[in-house]
Amino acid sequence: NTSTEFAQRLIDWHRDHGRHDLPWQRTCDPYRIWLSEIMLQQTQVDTVIPYYARFLARFPDIATLAAAPLDDVLALWSGLGYYARARNLHKAAQAVMAVHGGHFPARAEAIATLPGIGRSTAAAIAAFAFGERAAILDGNVKRVLCRAFGVDGFPGERAVEQRLWTLAEALLPDADVGTYIQAQMDLGATLCTRGKPACERCPMAGLCVARREDRIAELPAARPR
Ligand code: ADE
Repeated sequence: NTSTEFAQRLIDWHRDHGRHDLPWQRTCDPYRIWLSEIMLQQTQVDTVIPYYARFLARFPDIATLAAAPLDDVLALWSGLGYYARARNLHKAAQAVMAVHGGHFPARAEAIATLPGIGRSTAAAIAAFAFGERAAILDGNVKRVLCRAFGVDGFPGERAVEQRLWTLAEALLPDADVGTYIQAQMDLGATLCTRGKPACERCPMAGLCVARREDRIAELPAARPR
């Protein structure tokens, strides 16, 4: 069926064409995965790598981060921008110490209660660190799903977003969720881009509704005005 096919194609594509050697892909430490997801939210992979290494050298674990002065955290963030990310990271580290006894929570639902972590980022951390079967839905994944399944409507609208969450959950494979999620992120970032997507190299081209109906440029729909 289509949903098994969707996940399997993505997983196969990632095995042959994805990146497997990034610093945060070689660990199951939720702290390291959390940090990478926050840095990657608004910053490109190549920019993140040196910041990530410096941050972990200074703050190797959550306890060290929680105990550090905020100014030290902001100093290591300097140049990355979106400083609310650093403030929330610091606040969340203190919450992990105070509320969770120093143990990063293992379930996406609990992770999402920490400052600066939304539903999609919580799911990514839970899947990468703990293998939880949790769906993500960031901007890239919204675009991939709108095109592949011909979902109409502006994805920033509540009802459309709700439909996309339901679809994202239905598509989750039974195994290899971490690979699947990473593959979704990478497909949206490298092939299924906003402008000029590389459909000729896309593993989804054969089942993509937008491509079949020649609606790539129309999906996802723009904000209504
Ligand atoms: N953006 C957010 N999370 C990411 C990840 N794990 N890999 C690549 N880009 C990302």
